[in-house]
Amino acid sequence: MHNTELTELASLDRAHLIHPVVNYRSHEQRGATILVSGHGVYLNDAQGNELLDAFSGLWCVNVGYGQESVVRAATEQMRQLPYATSYFHFASEPAIRLAARLVELAPASLRHVYFTLGGSDAVDAAIRFITYYFNSTGRPQKKHFISLERGYHGSSSQGSGLTAIAAFHQNFDLPLPHQHKIPSPYPYRNEAGQDPQAIIGASVAALRAKVAALGADNVAAFFCEPVQGSGGVIVPPKGWLKAMREACRELDILFVVDEVITGFGRTGPLFACEAEDVQPDLMTIAKGLTAGYAPMGAVLMSDAVYCAIADGAPGMPVGHGHTYSAHPVSAAVALEVLRLYEEGGLLANGVAQTPHFEAGLREMLSHPLVGEARNRGLLGALELVADKGAKTRFDPALKLSERIAAAAYRNRVIFRAFGDNILGFAPALCYTASEFELLFARLKKTLDEVLDEPDVRRSVK
Ligand SMILES: Cc1ncc(COP(=O)(O)O)c(C=O)c1O
Repeated sequence: MHNTELTELASLDRAHLIHPVVNYRSHEQRGATILVSGHGVYLNDAQGNELLDAFSGLWCVNVGYGQESVVRAATEQMRQLPYATSYFHFASEPAIRLAARLVELAPASLRHVYFTLGGSDAVDAAIRFITYYFNSTGRPQKKHFISLERGYHGSSSQGSGLTAIAAFHQNFDLPLPHQHKIPSPYPYRNEAGQDPQAIIGASVAALRAKVAALGADNVAAFFCEPVQGSGGVIVPPKGWLKAMREACRELDILFVVDEVITGFGRTGPLFACEAEDVQPDLMTIAKGLTAGYAPMGAVLMSDAVYCAIADGAPGMPVGHGHTYSAHPVSAAVALEVLRLYEEGGLLANGVAQTPHFEAGLREMLSHPLVGEARNRGLLGALELVADKGAKTRFDPALKLSERIAAAAYRNRVIFRAFGDNILGFAPALCYTASEFELLFARLKKTLDEVLDEPDVRRSVK
């Protein structure tokens, strides 16, 4: 891109484009990083840099960039029928086939699919359906929702109250009075210690205690991610999800699994629920469903929830809809992306490549900045600490995350540098062993450079 064009775009961006989850004034100062193309696991920016993407866009481009068969599926569907409403009994073939395919692939408890445009409105739809469900089954007092500290459930008006990230609450009058949190099952920093059973036991006890405090008759549902993503890639012990499922059953509250990040091979199997044979009451998905090639999400629900809603107001429509629910182009894209995961071998490749990813993360443990390496499948993190023994966090005034993100960009690798000095990684399922080598070489160089800065060096014990 020419310099004049770049300058024009940068100033138009500053003047008009509002970006998600940035400080608006800082963004005006900094300006946008403009991306122009992608191929495989590489992105190209407007300055002509080729960057290795270790974050799949925003944990979504699980199939990598430039998959021609997906482009063809979208083009053909656009040409044939670019839009069909699913309101008023209309439908399109790709949407119907996709719903049926998802029911085949998802945990057996989930039998019905409502399509959204992404994860936030999938969570929002789940909340609305749950409210409807309890009202229509004669339990209107069941209105309280419980989720996890460090959880992320998008940024809809209600969903962002289930989210437990301060920036999503401040000045938004959230969380709402009926939204509650229990501690995250955070192995590296868990008050219950490091023992997996103790961590699981502490989560179950915290859920029971919260439900007891609110009154079991007043609690609607518990929402969780199988691995917490935006809260810092918190990987609970194996067995945690299953234990929380069982606890919800005993407590007579709905169990909602938010697989927006963990779905579609991100942790190994198609859904993280599969690894522990967990059967949720509802499940939200998005991102890897279309691998970011078109917007789409969904909420899947059990027969029991669906039937209660179906019979809830005889003769009345269920007043929940989106113009683009079950969009045929997004559905055609999703069907092809699902084919790539399965027949195309990408799920299998993700599983086969995971040892390279895991080994690379573990090797980084010897770096002076790295306190912990953790992952499940191709979802991983490094947690940086000033003192490995005491697990002391760096002084926020160092702005370490911002410095690491900038150094990484100079070294032509993109990952997520969270505010509390956790580095998040979500490589595409098509990564090869040599691409992992390149990722860790660039990452090590980045951390070495940041460590060489005198104030950082002085902060490390
Ligand atoms: C677990 C989870 N739920 C919901 C969402 C919201 O999805 P979207 O950004 O597509 O609205 C996200 C997004 O990162 C997520 O990670």
